[in-house]
Amino acid sequence: MDELDYNTCNATFRSLTDQQRLMVEETSRLIGADADLELTSYGCGFGMFELELIARVPRRTVWFQGVDTNGEAVERLRSELAGLPKVRGHRVFTASMADVADLRITPTEYGLFVQSLCYLGADEGMAVVKEARNRHRRLIVAVTPLNRLNGPFAESLARQGVVRPLFAQTLAEELTRFGIEFRTVTVGAEIAVPVSEPAHRLLEFLTFARHQPWLGGTSRAELLDAVAELGTVSAGHVRIPHPVEVFGIG
Ligand SMILES: C[S@@+](CC[C@H](N)C(=O)[O-])C[C@H]1O[C@@H](n2cnc3c(N)ncnc32)[C@H](O)[C@@H]1O
Repeated sequence: MDELDYNTCNATFRSLTDQQRLMVEETSRLIGADADLELTSYGCGFGMFELELIARVPRRTVWFQGVDTNGEAVERLRSELAGLPKVRGHRVFTASMADVADLRITPTEYGLFVQSLCYLGADEGMAVVKEARNRHRRLIVAVTPLNRLNGPFAESLARQGVVRPLFAQTLAEELTRFGIEFRTVTVGAEIAVPVSEPAHRLLEFLTFARHQPWLGGTSRAELLDAVAELGTVSAGHVRIPHPVEVFGIG
């Protein structure tokens, strides 16, 4: 997938699930009400989650810092943030969160990893987590467990040489191994794909779910069959479990 396809397919995928809304609610609850918030998001992308969190978190203003390797996404997020009255300042870098020694990253109260830590293997990822703990009072990590739905993503990470990516089970093992205290909440989200969904959206959904260009049949019936294999069909929808674990560290 090139970057544009990734973003389009990711947007379609996310529009069919309540996962983001439920994650925002849980993260907002963990952050809680107060006057001002300082937040750093590692792997912020173009801020699909972060912009919703900023809008909904019960804080008067937000100072936002973000890091992502995707320069186009960073540009897009910068321009979105510039238009938000609630954001009293922001800095977004095109950089890898693996560059843990990047001194441009300012300490903030909260450090956030939303669906991003799993791009890193356990060794590199835990080095990032440990460094981030020095910069932030509290870390919030939202990551899915490794399951049938994200198996193809895990396979693509393996092909890129990522060893033991930090999906929820591995992250819990690693935090325990290093004696880092954490609490988790399981957000019981699901994906509901209407069987009436147009073919181009089914194709975008499958491309993102398979994490590679869709190689199967592309008639509407074939696409729907492939989606139906991922879940159970009821009341005009294919329903696919899509849980996420929200870790509070510190
Ligand atoms: C699934 S997206 C999540 C984006 C955003 N946090 C959200 O929830 O809307 C994962 C993001 O992690 C970024 N990413 C992957 N590896 C990274 C790394 N080593 N350093 C920084 N960002 C990375 C990708 O470019 C992508 O934008």
